[in-house]
Amino acid sequence: MDTPPAPDEVFAFWEDMYRAREGVWSGHVNAAVADVAGALPPGRAIDLGAGEGGDALWLAERGWTVTGVDVSPTALARAQAAAERAGLSERITWVAADLHTWRPAERVDLVTAAFFQSPVALERATILRVARGWVAPGGHLLVVSHAARPPWAVDDDHGHDGGGPEDFPTPEEELVGLGLPEVGWEVAIAEIRDRSAYAPDGTEVELSDTVVLVRRTS
Ligand SMILES: C[S@@+](CC[C@H](N)C(=O)[O-])C[C@H]1O[C@@H](n2cnc3c(N)ncnc32)[C@H](O)[C@@H]1O
Repeated sequence: MDTPPAPDEVFAFWEDMYRAREGVWSGHVNAAVADVAGALPPGRAIDLGAGEGGDALWLAERGWTVTGVDVSPTALARAQAAAERAGLSERITWVAADLHTWRPAERVDLVTAAFFQSPVALERATILRVARGWVAPGGHLLVVSHAARPPWAVDDDHGHDGGGPEDFPTPEEELVGLGLPEVGWEVAIAEIRDRSAYAPDGTEVELSDTVVLVRRTS
């Protein structure tokens, strides 16, 4: 890995964003995560950039044992509170850490990364490639990302304003970034999915997600 970006910068940006507002995200699972992971048998999972925990909580409700990793302790405190309210604390471990350097103790059956996109320094492709190595044989890596900037987020502070088209990967670019070896992996899904959502002002909008699911076969 190249020299990682300054951890202070990454921490400060995301902590400030979460501290500035309660409930930055909906608290619900992302649609593509529910569609895709809902078809997989429960096991152990790691959620990269877990935020306020919507996906990790949903996975835990369905029987997964989840580790949710995020650089923001404020976001994870909200996630933990939600897990306690839902009686899911025993199924989820929250880890406040920078994914440029954090490593798990063991391989898992599913690694998820939903909207793991950032306007501050993020070696996203490197992190995803490293995280691919955390998938056990038979397991999956699921990456869901904004395929285009949300219409209301031209210059916001919610992690969408990445500053260039490279921050909104196509399925093909996502696969190139993952650098799958020719043997031992298969591509299960690599496509753009459209969905309806509500902008912060309440208007209904169409959003496009890049959805990539790869499976480790050996
Ligand atoms: C756009 S948000 C998505 C949150 C969540 N996955 C969701 O879909 O609601 C990106 C998340 O990545 C986290 N993040 C960004 N850079 C990180 C890093 N280097 N290490 C760990 N987490 C990071 C942020 O704190 C933020 O919660």
